[in-house]
Amino acid sequence: MKFYITTPIYYVNDKPHIGHAYTTIAADILARFKRLMGYNVFFLTGTDEHGKKIEKAAEELKISPKELADKNHIIFKELWEKLDISYSKFIRTTDPEHQEAVKVFWTKMVSSGTVYKGKYVGWYCIHCESFFPSSQVKDGKCPSCGRAVDILEEESYFFSVKKFKEKLSKYIETSNFIRPEFRKAEVLNALKEIDDISISRSRERVSWGIPVPGDDKFVIYVWVDALINYVSALGYPNGDKMSFWPADVHFIGKDILKFHAIYWPMFLEAVGLEPPKTIFSHGWWRVEGKKMSKSLKNVVDPFEIAKLFGSDTLRFFMFREIPFGRDGDFSEEAIRKRYESNLAKDFGNLLLRVSKFAENNFPEGVRKNFPSSNTELETAFDLWMEKMENIDYFSALDVIWNLVNLANKLMDQKSPWNLIKHDREKAEQVIYELAHIIKVIIFMLYPFCVSTCRKVSHNFGIQWLLDESSPKDKKDVLGFQEKFKISSTGVLFPKIEG
Ligand code: MSP
Repeated sequence: MKFYITTPIYYVNDKPHIGHAYTTIAADILARFKRLMGYNVFFLTGTDEHGKKIEKAAEELKISPKELADKNHIIFKELWEKLDISYSKFIRTTDPEHQEAVKVFWTKMVSSGTVYKGKYVGWYCIHCESFFPSSQVKDGKCPSCGRAVDILEEESYFFSVKKFKEKLSKYIETSNFIRPEFRKAEVLNALKEIDDISISRSRERVSWGIPVPGDDKFVIYVWVDALINYVSALGYPNGDKMSFWPADVHFIGKDILKFHAIYWPMFLEAVGLEPPKTIFSHGWWRVEGKKMSKSLKNVVDPFEIAKLFGSDTLRFFMFREIPFGRDGDFSEEAIRKRYESNLAKDFGNLLLRVSKFAENNFPEGVRKNFPSSNTELETAFDLWMEKMENIDYFSALDVIWNLVNLANKLMDQKSPWNLIKHDREKAEQVIYELAHIIKVIIFMLYPFCVSTCRKVSHNFGIQWLLDESSPKDKKDVLGFQEKFKISSTGVLFPKIEG
């Protein structure tokens, strides 16, 4: 069973921010979940290194674009390591194999008869690397990012869309291609209005790109170059990983939906490849109500957040705070609240209380000494599976938190610290029951809070459960084990001063 997941490839003109971390964590959560379920997952991320944006940033620093890319792509890699991102491949669009694949792809598009040479006159935004029709440009500002646009006139290669519109429209209407569902209408509208796509740039204006095969007065438009990464990483055209195509999920932000949901399937169709199965486009994080931007100096650095609160807290916060797909508001106060109330109080305290009590009173372990029944856990597990399959992380975390609350209630109501004084067996039974619930919680929470769950799985003697290299089924998770040998977890989420 193969499963192919991708993130966008990130521009290397700047350092990563929480928006980049968001998409990548979302992809990692699904990758880990699918691996636990026994899938052979290929998880791709990387960097988008060509185009005017990178050229300009390098110029300002008085270095070459390649030097800038060499320097900055490493920061992304470092961040992914900090955030426990388990990617299979990190692609760079300056990789020679990628550049070769782009040329092959281009040549195939041309021979399919869908490419012609023409002239483009219109508004152009360097930041978005896109042309915009006059109807969308107000006061000389880009309709997408708000920056100033310039009038540009140049020869260009165009991709003719008319052959593809109807089929794509049907595909969008009748499949699970666009997620969340509420974005379908906007894509269908954009598709209706779309003109032929300019797929090259004159070399005079943009020199940092892949030359158009057979016509080096032009470079290939950076979005064509970038989208092809999803197949070049598999060894397009004939590499052995091509069997992973079509991608199961492309995770992206809502701002780049048009490129993925309209351009990409058309390009693929032109070269005879299937469209991806799902494009999941998430919302944007604002910061304290405002758009994140350099000029407002409110860009949140994921390294700093991870340093202060830990990687698991960031991973948890982003998907517990808002339904995945919607916009959200990021603030240090909001993340601190989640840390203190959900992670430290509900979850961390539960684990500490149970594990410490077990360590002190049952150093040999707690044995299963009661008849088994676990319908409540089974219902929760089934629901969690359904939500995870559906990439509804918010609801999946809800299911998990209901169990955390249930376990806390059980601990309070059954007070094993009283029971132990007169009925040791009963106390052991309570702790076993709690350890069993915790085992299920740890499994379900693992894709979100990787390192905490790994640590705790050692404390509870269930590390085998989180081994992604061997598939787990319901029986593994819900089945009763002979005994739990438990050591204290210590304080998992210590108080953060300041
Ligand atoms: N290079 C292109 C993608 C090419 S994919 C074939 C690109 N790169 S990017 O670095 O600008 O952005 C990458 C991702 O970050 C996008 O999915 C975008 O939605 C996401 N985010 C950027 N700012 C964001 C927020 N403030 N909040 C959430 N995600 C945001 O686009």
